[in-house]
Amino acid sequence: MKIGIGNDHAAVEMKLAIKEYLESLGHEVVNYGTDSNESCNYPEYGAKVGRAVADGDVDCGVLICGTGVGISIAANKVKGVRAAVCSDVTTAHLVKEHNNANIIAFGARIVGIELAKDIVKSYLDAEYQGGRHEQRIAMIHEIENE
Ligand code: RB5
Repeated sequence: MKIGIGNDHAAVEMKLAIKEYLESLGHEVVNYGTDSNESCNYPEYGAKVGRAVADGDVDCGVLICGTGVGISIAANKVKGVRAAVCSDVTTAHLVKEHNNANIIAFGARIVGIELAKDIVKSYLDAEYQGGRHEQRIAMIHEIENE
C-alpha cells in the first residue's frame, strides 16, 4: 500500500520508527510530517495527510502528535476523511471493520513504540465489513454537506 504519514514535533522519533516499520512490511511511505524537533503546529500536518488521502494520492494515512487527538481533529475537517485515534489494537482493527477509517492516529506521548507498531499492523490487516456500516458512514459524510 501507499501510506501517507504525518506528525508534529512531539512525534518525530515515533514517525521515523513507524515509517521504517511500514517499509519493512513492504509498504511505500510518503512523509508529510516534520522531521524537526522545533515546535510546530499539528493542524498543518493533519490537513496535509487528510488532503492526500481524500485526493487519492495515498491509500490511507497514519498521523501522530503528542496525543493523536489534535492532528486527527484537523484531518477530520477534510471532506472524506475518517481519522480515528487508537491507543489499543482492538480499537485499531474495529475502526477499519466498522468505520472504514482511512487514517489511523495515535499519540507519541501515550503509546510506546511496540504498541504503536501493533496498532498500525492491526489496522492495516483488518478489512472493512460493509453491510450495516455503509449507511452509518454515509450519514457521517452527509454532515459534511450541512
Ligand atoms: C504539542 O505540544 C501537542 O499539543 C500536540 O502534539 C498534540 O498532543 C495535540 O493534540
